[in-house]
Amino acid sequence: MNDLRAVNKAAAAKAPAPAIPDAQTVTEVKHWTDRLFSFRVTRPRSLRFRSGEFVMIGLPDDNGKPILRAYSIASPAWDDELEFYSIKVPDGPLTSRLQHIKPGDQIILRPKPVGTLVLDALLPGKRLWFFATGTGIAPFASLMRDPDTYERYDEVIMMHTCREVADLEYGRQLVASLPDDPLIGEFVEGKLRYYPTTTREKSERMGRITDNLKSGKVFADLGIDGISPETDRAMVCGSLAFNMDMKEILEGYGLREGANSDPAEYVVEKAFVG
Ligand code: A2P
Repeated sequence: MNDLRAVNKAAAAKAPAPAIPDAQTVTEVKHWTDRLFSFRVTRPRSLRFRSGEFVMIGLPDDNGKPILRAYSIASPAWDDELEFYSIKVPDGPLTSRLQHIKPGDQIILRPKPVGTLVLDALLPGKRLWFFATGTGIAPFASLMRDPDTYERYDEVIMMHTCREVADLEYGRQLVASLPDDPLIGEFVEGKLRYYPTTTREKSERMGRITDNLKSGKVFADLGIDGISPETDRAMVCGSLAFNMDMKEILEGYGLREGANSDPAEYVVEKAFVG
């Protein structure tokens, strides 16, 4: 009896820490700047999502309690793994920890994708605009790799504004890789246009998306007449202030905000910033 109790006690002492629920394993981490990184994790077999949706991901705190935040899935629906793109906030409850993950580490991923930046929330049209600031490019990194995007639209324009040139690099490399991608290359060819700008460092193209739309510079540069509700659809993802300004501009062109249950001409979602 005593022996058995001793054996049980010893076994309990040796037992591994309780497994993290909904754990996925980190497979790759890439640091783009001292404020930006991307990472890939294993994908739960049962997880189905629509390009542009987000899931809750996180890490346990010191007491084992999960710290979870909404992250757009940056990888396309056909990818075996999931990719995320994140800012690093030194005192951010999650990103101060998350920025230190390494391949082999585990993160929490709640497999319930949701979101409004989906093709189904837009009415059919000719041209699709993606407007992003900072890490707001993440949902579009997924949508730009989805064949459905190019089957539904003749032309796709990715506008991305960041403070500095290095902040654009994740999106720039992704866009550059698409024409040669064995799976998606043929869909993208000749349909995707990329319009990156910086606001605080000199580069080829400069200025806020909002200012470049209002001045007409974007349209002059791209050889487009303008944005109209008959032909154009838009998705917006950035800071709250950016989203509000973009809503006003798009409504000024006559576009109406759509939702999953009520598709229209544009949709908006806030980029994660914590
Ligand atoms: P700016 O440098 O002029 O503030 P942040 O790093 O602050 O999230 O900003 C990311 C990018 O989004 C920056 O280039 C910033 O330009 C731009 N931005 C911030 N707020 C707005 C806004 N309300 N409208 C358009 N662009 C914005």
